[in-house]
Amino acid sequence: MTNSPAQVFAGKKGLITGIANDQSIAYGCAKAFRTVGADLAVTWLNDKARPHVEPLAQELQADITMPLDVAVPGQLEAVFKEIAGRWGKLDILVHSIAFAPRADLQGGLLDCSAEGFAKAMDVSCHSFIRMARLAAPLMKDGGTMFAMSYYGANRVVPNYNVMGPVKAALEAVCRYLAFELGPRGIRVHAISPGPLKTRAASGLKDFELLLNEAARKAPLGELVDIMDVGFACAYLATPFAHRITGGTVYVDGGANIVA
Ligand SMILES: NC(=O)c1ccc[n+]([C@@H]2O[C@H](COP(=O)([O-])OP(=O)(O)OC[C@H]3O[C@@H](n4cnc5c(N)ncnc54)[C@H](O)[C@@H]3O)[C@@H](O)[C@H]2O)c1
Repeated sequence: MTNSPAQVFAGKKGLITGIANDQSIAYGCAKAFRTVGADLAVTWLNDKARPHVEPLAQELQADITMPLDVAVPGQLEAVFKEIAGRWGKLDILVHSIAFAPRADLQGGLLDCSAEGFAKAMDVSCHSFIRMARLAAPLMKDGGTMFAMSYYGANRVVPNYNVMGPVKAALEAVCRYLAFELGPRGIRVHAISPGPLKTRAASGLKDFELLLNEAARKAPLGELVDIMDVGFACAYLATPFAHRITGGTVYVDGGANIVA
């Protein structure tokens, strides 16, 4: 390798959505992409989240910082308008966003309301399609898109409830987008991290049990951290991974292979 890691992404532009705090998976992704030289756009959910995210955006020397609630009409379009105006292109897109109403998340799937199901699916899954539609025209030299999934997409994980079907849909969305965008040199990955103690995870019942189980099962013997996820994404966005697309990439110490 002639390039130092810091130069691999020099001049590359990445939009990172889903940073809530310094424990967010999106923050690990942002840090990893910045470490290898990418310029970043970072979003926060709303005014309440902004004071937690803005210092992180500053630390990451983000060129663009903006609010983004994918459920608010026009906000996603505004982010991409800013990116088009400031950068004129995009190379990397990270969707690290999930939401389900608490009552629907904490009850069993049988009791999930139509409204709660639709909300979870819209924020956690369809928003990735909307993002991809806006990002693709800016990925003029190709690009890489990521969405965060979880093992509960394919196997029943107790207490994951409505998010299981939502993540299954998200993984299917990644496959179909990879198919549609492949001819334009755009690759799409579902990333499936092992459990991480984040704010989103705190909404799941008995999350500690999941952490213990993951550590026990993982052949590599340890829980993953957000930088493991970030650097896996960074690798997948390099030319070294330019023939990989559409699949679900597990970053879980191998836990998914163990019964
Ligand atoms: N923590 C885990 O164990 C784990 C494991 C696998 C996958 N994931 C997935 O990783 C992703 C990131 O979650 P995390 O664990 O880092 O937690 P997190 O709470 O740090 O991040 C979730 C993010 O979603 C954002 N969000 C929620 N509703 C939104 C909306 N309407 N518009 C825009 N943003 C919105 C929140 O602001 C927050 O930044 C999620 O898709 C989650 O399902 C998490």
